[in-house]
Amino acid sequence: MSEHFDVHGGARLTGEVEVVGAKNSVLKLMAAALLAEGTTTITNCPRILDVPLMADVLRSVGCHVEIDDDVVRITTPAELSHEASSSAMSKLRASVCVLGPLVGKLKKAVVALPGGDAIGSRPLDMHQNGLRKLGATSAIEHGCVVAEADGLHGAQIWLDFPSVGATENILMAAVLAEGTTVIDNAAREPEIADIAAMLGEMGAKISGAGTSTLTVEGVAELKPTEHRVIGDRIVGATWAFAAAMTRGDVTVTGVDPHHLELVLEKLRLAGAEVTTYDGKGFRVRQPERPESVDFVTLPYPGFATDLQPFAVALSSVSNGTSMITENVYEARFRFIEEMVRLGADARTDGHHAVVRGVGALSSAPVWASDIRAGAGLVLAGLCADGVTEVWDVFHIDRGYPHFVENLNRLGARIDRVGTPGPESD
Ligand code: UD1
Repeated sequence: MSEHFDVHGGARLTGEVEVVGAKNSVLKLMAAALLAEGTTTITNCPRILDVPLMADVLRSVGCHVEIDDDVVRITTPAELSHEASSSAMSKLRASVCVLGPLVGKLKKAVVALPGGDAIGSRPLDMHQNGLRKLGATSAIEHGCVVAEADGLHGAQIWLDFPSVGATENILMAAVLAEGTTVIDNAAREPEIADIAAMLGEMGAKISGAGTSTLTVEGVAELKPTEHRVIGDRIVGATWAFAAAMTRGDVTVTGVDPHHLELVLEKLRLAGAEVTTYDGKGFRVRQPERPESVDFVTLPYPGFATDLQPFAVALSSVSNGTSMITENVYEARFRFIEEMVRLGADARTDGHHAVVRGVGALSSAPVWASDIRAGAGLVLAGLCADGVTEVWDVFHIDRGYPHFVENLNRLGARIDRVGTPGPESD
């Protein structure tokens, strides 16, 4: 028996909600702490399961990690192990981010292949090719990525696709390589800029963060720092969609609205009144039933693949027909099968989904397949008649601190029922 949420339909969400640090940033910043001997302090960390899992990964290579509320302190010893083998490795995708720092610092790494959400194929070829360009060998052996180098040297690297994970790993290896590295077609996500900012505070020389060309001048060593994680734009956007879907009025703080420009523009097109507060947050008020809008997922500054379930959920209750195109993770459309259980009129064809808005959704038991799909089902349940049971909610707990509490404070009625299930996927 695992936990599920009973989501009572018919709520209109109103009020204010604060967003804390980004999951997709904090885990990578924790990995970056491996690059400097001594104690690195990371503040504004979200209280989600993935943070203690990443702490276990760092402990497996010899770090001492303390988690104190929203502060994580990582002490990296002089003698670090190059083998990251914790069982936590298989539970979260971000664990692969220790590869770049270990190769950078120790010129050697054996890193168990990562797990994480079941959202589609997640190869590591670009990570490996980047490290090879820097002078390392890299192979997959016995379920691990094995990389080794006599010394790392700067290189010109073109990525086939602006992969977030590959950009991060190559960047974290290049900061300690000899000479200049240029990463072209680099990912431009705000979380990349956040890591580059922290690495800069540690003494790295990086220019172009937030653009598609990153230039790194290698340095001999880095020193520990204290860094505040940027606000979680994906969580912020979740509350924005929740406001639009429930015809609510929600103010979101702790997130930079510049990181959500396209998302907020889409909600304006759906009929929301959106106000932004520079660097601080935004307000979304939805006076009428939303109008249908098309969505296309793309690397940042495009519409994030993580937000695709919310685009589907919004479209399912909007007036009209929406076309949603998924360009990053093909398996994310599995979410639509669950939406159909709730009465959504949706069908997929390859990378595209067509969703015809219905007047009301109808409650049903549904299953979360990943973090965002789980949150999307809860938002859909808020727009259904009766009580929707959302199962496998451990996925949601991996990405959203105080998810139920935050929604209930905004006027939803959601009950957590049962005993805790598996820790992570
Ligand atoms: C992705 C999202 C990111 C989001 C994160 C968390 C994109 C571009 N990236 O990052 O915004 O924060 O999920 O959910 O939307 N790929 C390869 N070879 C590689 C690496 C990646 O083919 O070596 C492919 C992947 O299969 C995928 C695409 O490139 O189709 C994007 O991968 P990547 O950006 O690395 O994914 P994440 O780092 O998980």
